[in-house]
Amino acid sequence: MSPVLHLDEVDSTNTYLKTRHSTLPHATVVYADRQTAGRGRYNRRWVSQEGGLYFSVLLKPLQNSHLSNLTQLMALSICYLLEKRKLCPTLKWPNDVHVQGRKISGILSEAVFAGNELQAVIVGVGINICQKELDYVGQPATSLLACGVRADPREVLEEVLHFFWQGYPDLCEKGFSAIREPYTQRFAALGKEVSVTNGTQTMVGRAEGLSPQGTLLLRTAQGIQEICIGDVQL
Ligand code: BTN
Repeated sequence: MSPVLHLDEVDSTNTYLKTRHSTLPHATVVYADRQTAGRGRYNRRWVSQEGGLYFSVLLKPLQNSHLSNLTQLMALSICYLLEKRKLCPTLKWPNDVHVQGRKISGILSEAVFAGNELQAVIVGVGINICQKELDYVGQPATSLLACGVRADPREVLEEVLHFFWQGYPDLCEKGFSAIREPYTQRFAALGKEVSVTNGTQTMVGRAEGLSPQGTLLLRTAQGIQEICIGDVQL
């Protein structure tokens, strides 16, 4: 059984594991009731008041070929948790989870290298459970409570981890193909016109599907483009 550490408050659970990755074992999980400096993708802030679930998982994979797929497996695990509670989540590629078009969960994965050598991957997850006020995260947000579901953050953590560890060995072996079907079934943008922003660049096109590696296939005026990273807007 991997260690699960609980903290009342921390700056960021991702930062906590990042600074201690060399002394903590593979599969260590840390969760906190509050974060004072929670971080989101693209250097955004992740406001982390009491009532939400904030956790990070420390992974020491043997090879680095499926790193981005670990995040997708986590997003899918969150979908399974929500479906168990009778909600209908969708995935906003690559790793946001939405319910009724509103963001309920986000994931920030970070890799730690020493030179070219991968030391660790930290998969950090925020799930809105029952915060009193939901911070505006650049898009409409929701929580389990706002969707009519009462849940205990610790139980949610255990269930998400259960699904994640169940899928982890297969994902490490096969990569995205291990989860391509269930992920695609929940991929909200499939067949729709979307814009994808990647830092400074925005591309517009039709989301044709996901490649065997989990990258987004976008049909643009210039033909099919393969997108490895970005934020999709419907
Ligand atoms: C995003 O949607 O931009 C990703 C948000 C990730 C937030 C989680 S909360 C736990 C972990 N610690 C952090 O500082 N960030 C992640």
